[in-house]
Amino acid sequence: MPAAAPGPIVLWLSSRYENIELAQAALAHVCRLRGIDAEMEHWIGMAMREAVANAVKHGNRLDPDKRVLVRLESAGDDLTIVIGDEGGGFDPERISDPLAPENQLKTSGRGIFYIRTFMDDVTFSRGEGGGTVLTMRKDLSKRGDAKGEKP
Ligand SMILES: Nc1ncnc2c1ncn2[C@@H]1O[C@H](COP(=O)(O)OP(=O)(O)O)[C@@H](O)[C@H]1O
Ligand SMILES: [Mg+2]
Repeated sequence: MPAAAPGPIVLWLSSRYENIELAQAALAHVCRLRGIDAEMEHWIGMAMREAVANAVKHGNRLDPDKRVLVRLESAGDDLTIVIGDEGGGFDPERISDPLAPENQLKTSGRGIFYIRTFMDDVTFSRGEGGGTVLTMRKDLSKRGDAKGEKP
């Protein structure tokens, strides 16, 4: 793994779906610096985009005056992504299980499931303003193993 370990990259994005591309560009930069391969970048990117989309839609309810925090940091074997919003927060224990038979035909309700599948540690907490702070960590030393290869 290359030695280059980018310090934190912090973006505050207006709550628009188009801005997911900016988060993706920042992630691509970090992946290039850390020598993360295209397949792992694909899965990390999918998890991050689901988290930003949730912050924009469910957290900030598409209010462009509310901001989404994207924080990327990679040191040692870890890549840590924090996505924060200025919404009302929610209880992640109460979301429905997309694998339950009654939910399998639904096309929504899979974002958090994907995030938990692709990433190694996923925690939800409340931000100072009451919004959601989602912290997800990927262990880069596990590249190439089965975890996160397929949903
Ligand atoms: N940042 C957030 N703020 C508030 N509620 C959220 C947030 N992220 C997720 N949720 C809640 O968790 C549910 C499940 O999210 P997800 O698995 O991504 O499915 P979907 O976005 O398709 O509904 C959402 O429908 C929403 O109720
Ligand atoms: Mg979602």
